[in-house]
Amino acid sequence: MILEIEKVLQEMTLEEKASLCSGLGYWDTKPLERFQIESFVMTDGPNGVRMQEGTNDRFGLNESAKATCFPTGSCLASSWDTDLLYQVGAAIGREAKAKNVSLVLGPAVNMKRSPLCGRNFEYLSEDPLLAGKLGAAYVKGMQKQGVGATPKHFAANNQERFRQTIDSRVDERTLREIYLRVFEIVVKESAPWMLMSSYNQINGCFASQNRKLLTDILRKDWGYQGLVVTDWYGTNVRPLGVAAGQDLEMPGNGGISDREIIEAVQAGELSEDAVDECVRHFLMLYNTLQKEDTQVKPDYEENHRIAVKAAAEGSVLLKNEDKILPLSENKKIAVIGSFAKKPRYQGGGSSHLNANHMDYPWDQLTQIVSKEQLTYAAGYDPEVNEPVEELIEEAKNIAEAADVAVIFCGLTDNFESEGFDRETLSMPESHNALIRAVAKANPNTVVVLENGSPVTMPWLGEVKAVLESYLGGEAAGSAAADILFGRVNPSGKLAETFPARLEDNPSYLNFPGCSSYVEYREGIFIGYRYYASADVKPLFPFGYGLSYTTFSLSDGAVSAAAYKRGDQPVTVSCKVKNTGSRAGKEVVQVYVKAPGTEAVRPKLELKGFTKVFLEPGEEKQVEIPLFDLDYWNPDLSSWELEGGAYEIRIGNSSENLPLKLELQVTGTVKRKTYDHNTMLGELLEHEKVGEWAKDTRRAFTIEMTGGIENTHTKLLLEKSTLELPLLVLRNTGFLPPEKLKTLLEVLNGQEERTQE
Ligand code: BGC
Repeated sequence: MILEIEKVLQEMTLEEKASLCSGLGYWDTKPLERFQIESFVMTDGPNGVRMQEGTNDRFGLNESAKATCFPTGSCLASSWDTDLLYQVGAAIGREAKAKNVSLVLGPAVNMKRSPLCGRNFEYLSEDPLLAGKLGAAYVKGMQKQGVGATPKHFAANNQERFRQTIDSRVDERTLREIYLRVFEIVVKESAPWMLMSSYNQINGCFASQNRKLLTDILRKDWGYQGLVVTDWYGTNVRPLGVAAGQDLEMPGNGGISDREIIEAVQAGELSEDAVDECVRHFLMLYNTLQKEDTQVKPDYEENHRIAVKAAAEGSVLLKNEDKILPLSENKKIAVIGSFAKKPRYQGGGSSHLNANHMDYPWDQLTQIVSKEQLTYAAGYDPEVNEPVEELIEEAKNIAEAADVAVIFCGLTDNFESEGFDRETLSMPESHNALIRAVAKANPNTVVVLENGSPVTMPWLGEVKAVLESYLGGEAAGSAAADILFGRVNPSGKLAETFPARLEDNPSYLNFPGCSSYVEYREGIFIGYRYYASADVKPLFPFGYGLSYTTFSLSDGAVSAAAYKRGDQPVTVSCKVKNTGSRAGKEVVQVYVKAPGTEAVRPKLELKGFTKVFLEPGEEKQVEIPLFDLDYWNPDLSSWELEGGAYEIRIGNSSENLPLKLELQVTGTVKRKTYDHNTMLGELLEHEKVGEWAKDTRRAFTIEMTGGIENTHTKLLLEKSTLELPLLVLRNTGFLPPEKLKTLLEVLNGQEERTQE
């Protein structure tokens, strides 16, 4: 039944309203029989439906009902494919619907600030545009099925350490351009029915009671209409949350918070209007759910196929020396590593689900080549970090006897998980030692990685190929086998930088901070924005990934030579050609370098991308809209467009950008008024006083050098006179006080008034 919200609100008692501000149990909301409001169910996400039927728990420890396990965020994002994310969102939505789940807790779109964050496997990217567009596509796909998505965790929740109490101290510009931006894109493009606030504080105020975040920015600036839910047990002082716009607390706590709300209203500490606002959002969502009350039957076979596709599209070929891959099907292959038979394909914690249909790498390899061609050795004990000599010996022996050795390894659950951060970028020593030993025994060694976040690869120079398959979900095994044998041409590109050393990461000195706070001192220079600007060479750059074919880019063009606010959006185009002999997909990436005169800007910012399929020899024209060029101006508290020449670069990774274009932009920042600290250099080109400024500069220089010319004094004065405040000219006799006054009037356009 669709509720008449305002009427219902008028009739409800304070007690009834307060009861709707928190959940019933772990996953459901409270019913309210008098208004025929039924309880509804939400469940984790984000890489499948984790529907616990028995005992509920927070960390995914207890078994849940079977569901298709899709790749986790890192892998999905490496596809750079919004259509794919839509399909995955839709497939999870259909499974949720069939289980009577109204809302799924995902996608998880937090920025990857440090590769050490234990939950990075679940998150999408270090870039807000990429994560925002992919997150929005997932939400759209899911909601089209009549199931609400819940982007999380809003906001600046970029580490697991002290996650429930830590204060993330982030400057306003960095928040707006990076950490909030990703949510802004998701909210504006896909209107999620629910949004989850984060556990942490932001600049001294808990996200769940942060009015600036939940009301001023989310609702007033971005126009959000959905419901804001807390993270599980993420409430601090509930009445303060209600006042800030934190609509629903989950899970329920047996009415403790409801009573606090009632008492706060009765004591005059909380307005009933604030409670009404939370309930209004609850009822709006309730009505949306009522309209979507249809039944859907999921097709698990089809969803498994989507999972296979997603795992393949998200796998990134990092190295392929001597074109060792794809492998030919008549080779003798030593399959090494316990992950080949017991793969790590999803992460630990609240997203951990019960996979419906596992494709194990070993089984999948046996589907492609005969069992006689394959040998197997575990190589390491997944529970033990230290190398086990006998296991390595056995692996070396089978590697020696084979044409090729393929090692499945990566990170174990003890190395990365929700709930704690990683301590190092290294893989377990048992895996590193195995790779080195096997590579010595057989030069044709291929490494397939199963991990959720970047690792260092001290053995990179000793192996021929590396396939990053991330945590690829239940179908990771078939995706890896298909890529190894060339049945699928890899097309994934890293959605995050793999640093050469942990110390190179820009957050290194300030991650994870101290027990009470963490400072985001690197500011907007997260990920490749830093590596590119500081010219620090990573192990593998953002946007990078190889293919079995080759592509060329040409004929770059911009739809307009100049742009100002209000103009048609600018589109960048180029031709992409498959210059190799296999069909394949290329991700065309567009980056921008802003002039950087009004604000410090990164050398590269991703502003658009598209993925294109090409047959051998085929060429296509791609059109990519430039997403937006604004930066956040903290002095004016607004988005502004910097004026000047923008460099546009097009390529297939943040380090390979062969096409270079230019766009002239008219800025929006209004000139500040001129005053006695205006610098001489600012006036040299001024139409009214430019000549005077040039003459004065000359006179000042002659006076200061006393006519003695040498290169050093010339250079010194050439530079320093540009930065001379008018006040210094006054004090050195070059600008009498009366003249300074008139000059400022002329500059500030007040001369007419003065003449009157
Ligand atoms: C996690 C959320 C999750 C929730 C419910 C929390 O600990 O941070 O991402 O949705 O638990 O399981």
